[in-house]
Amino acid sequence: MHPEPSPPRRLPRRGVLVVFEGIDGAGKSTQVRRLADSLRAAHWDLVLDREPTSKEHGRRLRDSATTGRLSPSEELALFIADRRQHVAEVIQPGLGASKVVILDRYYHSNAAYQGSRGLDWRDILRQNEAFAPRPDLVLWLDLDPAVSGVRIRGRGDVANQFERIDQLQRCREIYAAMADDRVLRIDAARDEEAVAADVLSAVGRLLASRAT
Ligand code: TYD
Repeated sequence: MHPEPSPPRRLPRRGVLVVFEGIDGAGKSTQVRRLADSLRAAHWDLVLDREPTSKEHGRRLRDSATTGRLSPSEELALFIADRRQHVAEVIQPGLGASKVVILDRYYHSNAAYQGSRGLDWRDILRQNEAFAPRPDLVLWLDLDPAVSGVRIRGRGDVANQFERIDQLQRCREIYAAMADDRVLRIDAARDEEAVAADVLSAVGRLLASRAT
């Protein structure tokens, strides 16, 4: 006889919001995938998504990385419009349904990247925190841009216009300045297994603290 399949696990009250951040090439997509696989194996009910989204504003932003850069303020407005829709359609409903919501980038990217183009990152944070739920945990995969550049070229990708090294250095400084009690800095220069172990133990602690 087969055992009954386990019902999906959800948190008792509101869900939790876990965000991966860091410069391009820090290993976010790999770590997002690994975390999602581990949580699914433990039957957690997940929402997994990324920003910019694949909706209208997000598509325009991705296109702009190759077809011609928008001005910093136009770019900021579009990222915020994309995020407003994301919050309303995906993030809030997931949290309201007590799920674990995992995002590959969120508003800390907005502050770091558009801040690196000269806008005031504190003001960008304020604009976002006026409508976007604050993450319970930000996993900041921290890496030197010189190393991330080597990784990006090593996977056969060409750095896009969001990825110039001096700007990435500035992004890294802004990530460091934003670090608070909900941001965990993870040294992403180590191997994939070591990073995944840190990610899983931080998320495990968060879920355990919310599970009762
Ligand atoms: P990314 O998820 O890295 O796309 P891909 O992996 O397909 O290249 O995001 C694309 C770029 O968007 C990335 O370089 C960071 C940038 N970005 C911002 O500038 N501001 C934001 O608010 C967000 C969410 C992303």
